[in-house]
Amino acid sequence: MTAPTGPWWRESVIYQIYPRSYADANGDGIGDLPGITSRLDHLAELGVDAVWLSPFYVSPQCDAGYDVADYRDVDPVFGRLADADALIAAGHERGLRILVDLVPNHTSDRHPWFQAALAAGPGSPERDRYLFRSADDVPNNWGSVFGGPAWTRVADGQWYLHLFDSSQPDLNWDNPEVREEFDAVIRFWLDRGVDGMRIDVAHGMVKAAGLPDQGSPATKGHRMGPMWDQDGVHDIFRRWRSIVDSYPGDRILVAEAWVGPQDRLARYVRPDELHQAFNFEYLLAAWRAPDQRTAITDSMDAFGSVGAPSTWVLSNHDVLRHPTRLGFPAGTALPNGLGAGDPVPDAALGLRRARAATLLMLGLPGAAYLYQGEELGLPEDIWLPDEARQDPQWTRTGHTVRGRDGCRVPLPWVADAPSYGFGPGPSSWLPQPEIWAEYALDRQRGVDGSTYELYRSGLALRRSLGLGSGSVDWVDLGPDVVAFRNSSTLVVANLGGDPVTLPPGCTVVLSSSPVSDQVPTDTAVWATTS
Ligand code: GLC
Repeated sequence: MTAPTGPWWRESVIYQIYPRSYADANGDGIGDLPGITSRLDHLAELGVDAVWLSPFYVSPQCDAGYDVADYRDVDPVFGRLADADALIAAGHERGLRILVDLVPNHTSDRHPWFQAALAAGPGSPERDRYLFRSADDVPNNWGSVFGGPAWTRVADGQWYLHLFDSSQPDLNWDNPEVREEFDAVIRFWLDRGVDGMRIDVAHGMVKAAGLPDQGSPATKGHRMGPMWDQDGVHDIFRRWRSIVDSYPGDRILVAEAWVGPQDRLARYVRPDELHQAFNFEYLLAAWRAPDQRTAITDSMDAFGSVGAPSTWVLSNHDVLRHPTRLGFPAGTALPNGLGAGDPVPDAALGLRRARAATLLMLGLPGAAYLYQGEELGLPEDIWLPDEARQDPQWTRTGHTVRGRDGCRVPLPWVADAPSYGFGPGPSSWLPQPEIWAEYALDRQRGVDGSTYELYRSGLALRRSLGLGSGSVDWVDLGPDVVAFRNSSTLVVANLGGDPVTLPPGCTVVLSSSPVSDQVPTDTAVWATTS
């Protein structure tokens, strides 16, 4: 299996910044754009190729910025438009490409369009930009991804659809004005110099005609039903691709699309559509060799069949951080969020496996996505007090689903500083746990064997060994071992209980845990062969 080669994005490592939690320049406890700019050197030193920023646009922050009230301006909490320009320029000076987030499935209910829709009343062109319906009871049986019904009633009796929070009304993508507006928003950011966009809820924009009832309940991994993965979304992507292609440079569009199986996802990255799609199938694969091999093969086959590179990802702002996820016995069905009273994972085992999983991932050809803090080995914050939670899932589910705050806690930069160096003072919008001190960047930088130095070496070697543009040629080292050759490198991850002996003539160049001539359990190595 060989990954097609070509422009930068086919083999890039893209680092996700969650602006609220990366670095806080003004000390209000919420990360901001000047904070990010001040800490871009960290990313250049780490060795990533590009940065994707979660939304920083004007927003009431009901879903941490994924509820946009003005797509063309920066929320004051994050800075000003000039700060976005400065960030883009500073990234480019360091050779970092900058991707921003586009949220086209819904706006905020504070968006002028939604306010106008409320004022204009039933049957108006303003209401037609959203999905308003008249009915005595909810217009259909759809549920919000965040819990509760997907419909909310307004004062005049009509209902509007929101696949997420009630503050996030879904747009009507059959309306030409909606399409034109997003063309313009895309151009606005491309004109400002961004290198691409991640498309939020790319699989949800078009709903089945007539909004029919949903047959079987959706699950998180594979959201299926009349609101997901409708063929009509592909027309939108073709339209956007032609816009992006009209700009100089290799600019890209990346789908957040929770669809399966992989050949459905591959349709999002056909040659005239988006460039990449997040590989959640891989993220969700159990830490068992057969599951990992299947996830890799299925991805390479499906993406390869349309000429796209596979992508790889282990963590993001919506899922349990992988050192925590992998601390549970392989295959455990995990809750959405963890907190007091939930089963506690084995932290040491989780970190050991996470480091191995990362080395395995970075050994694969294609593009890899990293989530801020994983280079520090940060676990999920399972100590977060419930009173501090801000994820709308927590409230919308009547405090039954804890949600995603635990992976969004502000980063620790300096062990002995207030807010661990996140900002100049002690404030942080989610409280940081005491154990953050031991994960802080300054405790790991230059320290042999630290997770930070593992990532840094891994990223440098990935580049020099050409792993991003190589291939996967499976090597059989036993049923519990994931092993393949990629160019001249042998990548081995031992997921079994017994140590594995490397083939003769191997020189280990990087390992996730100390190794001898054998690879111990839950360890990955990269070796060159003579
Ligand atoms: C995506 C985002 C998530 C957000 C949701 C609604 O899944 O990644 O954080 O809550 O869309 O915009």
